Amino acid sequence: MVDTSTAKQLVQAIIDNLEQPVPGRRPVHTIGVGVKGEFVASDVACTYCIAEHFNGKPVRVSVRFSNGLGGVNQHDGWSDVRGMATRFHISGERGSDLIATTLGEFFVRNVDDFFEFSKIAKREKYERRPWWRKVWDLLQLKIPPRNPYPDETKNVDEGALRYANRHRFAQLGIFQVGLIGAPESYARASYHAVHTFWVTAPDGVRRPVRFSWQPVAGVRNTDPKAVPRDRYLFDELRDRLQRWPARFMLMMTIGEEGDALDDPTKPWPGTRIRVVMGTLTLLKVSEDQEADGERISFNPNRLAPGIEVSNDPILEARLGAYEVSREMRGGCPFKWR
Ligand code: HEM
Repeated sequence: MVDTSTAKQLVQAIIDNLEQPVPGRRPVHTIGVGVKGEFVASDVACTYCIAEHFNGKPVRVSVRFSNGLGGVNQHDGWSDVRGMATRFHISGERGSDLIATTLGEFFVRNVDDFFEFSKIAKREKYERRPWWRKVWDLLQLKIPPRNPYPDETKNVDEGALRYANRHRFAQLGIFQVGLIGAPESYARASYHAVHTFWVTAPDGVRRPVRFSWQPVAGVRNTDPKAVPRDRYLFDELRDRLQRWPARFMLMMTIGEEGDALDDPTKPWPGTRIRVVMGTLTLLKVSEDQEADGERISFNPNRLAPGIEVSNDPILEARLGAYEVSREMRGGCPFKWR
């Protein structure tokens, strides 16, 4: 169990790397939008998992989409990891959460890695590379870094690459971050929960699984060569949902012998069985963004009976870190929200 002091240090490591900490707000994924919707499990879902939201009855759902960056500057058009945090409002007070991002694999394996990454991947000055350095990069078969965005003066890219060069396990995640881009819409990206969870079937069989959301509208990014537009994702989603609901399929991949069960940096082979667990229908951007987005405290360890955490140390660390963050941005009144 990660103790409270480690959980505090984890959150502090994130805050220390912010341009300007934002009191009362999330230190990462600061900008987001709360959406209301409904989830209906597929016919087969209940044969794999006894959790209440897989029983086939419609379940009310709160979703918060977010940009990964910490801070209140809304750079929607910047290349950035996006988040999709979902609460299934099943009976009882707590609900069941599923937190996912557009990253297929995470870049650290445990808490020590995270602290080392935070030390190395500090924000550094980021400038346009002169043309001759770009040519030099190409001659060395290296892709030259992109030009800075209009008001981007610092970022963690160089430090993250240094970390990836030292640690092979981090390379898949960090290289994905470098190429991730900006989605046309929060409803046009796929989101992955990266950790392994255990689900229990009605016959008592427990299976290791990984969850991801696939958008029915398809995945589409903005043109990376165009000047990035800022502040479009909220309006785009609101307008889209006023016209027609947006849908996501919840996919569950079943792990097999030899698959990494406690390491979110390791992908599973693409040949694993995937089960459609249900359809999420997003109905409207909430009018009360405070109550239905900003004040919610999601936690990947808040799970319905029938779903359990694996021994993944990052998943365990997130239990305390998200609680500490919740307290820092508001405390008790938000409990269980
Ligand atoms: C040691 C690793 C990690 C740490 C220390 C960490 C820390 C945090 C913290 C402090 C928050 C703000 C929570 C709040 O105030 O409610 C947060 C939000 C978030 N994190 Fe992580 N995180 C970690 C790993 C991950 C991973 C692996 C994922 C991918 C599934 C992820 C996805 C998200 C998302 C989507 C949010 C925004 C949730 C929301 O909208 O409320 N994080 N993280």
